[in-house]
Amino acid sequence: MTLLQVMAADNAADVRVRTTDPAEIGAELAQHGIAYSHWDTLAGATATDSDTLLAHYAPQIAELNASGRYEHIDVARIHPDDTNPDWPATAAGARAKFLDEHRHAEDEVRFFAAGQGCFYLHVGDAVLATVCEAGDLLSVPAGTLHWFDMGTRPDFIAIRFFEEADGWVGDFTGDKISANFPTLDELLA
Ligand SMILES: [Fe+2]
Repeated sequence: MTLLQVMAADNAADVRVRTTDPAEIGAELAQHGIAYSHWDTLAGATATDSDTLLAHYAPQIAELNASGRYEHIDVARIHPDDTNPDWPATAAGARAKFLDEHRHAEDEVRFFAAGQGCFYLHVGDAVLATVCEAGDLLSVPAGTLHWFDMGTRPDFIAIRFFEEADGWVGDFTGDKISANFPTLDELLA
């Protein structure tokens, strides 16, 4: 479910907006300079290999990258594997990586081809929790404070767009603000 929940940055219980309406979500995010749009969804994306996914979305990728700004475009994916005894640790490790507040020197541009994840955008006195799902394209402007929760059972495929090869590396603020906000699991419960 694509969902936007806007909360006061100093009080997560102060919910200012909660909506699943794509037009409302887009309008709300646009007010903060955050681009949000949709591409078509591909049935069976989870079972589709990354090269095939990139080929499927080649026209949209070419349009998004018409300027050639993104020199590195890849596919990040994680899917539950209950047959693998290491899966819980892998999942927890992946989740922990971006769960603390950070920012990047370039825009964080992600297209969700499958599954879901939540971006928490800390903008001014608000935190905008934006749950993205298959078909959602989100662009977090460079320098925007944010964190990302893939949930306790991470399952998503995201096409990522980078200007620099290390564009995904976060500059962590050290602020533990994310601990005060509902997790992805809690938002969807
Ligand atoms: Fe990030």
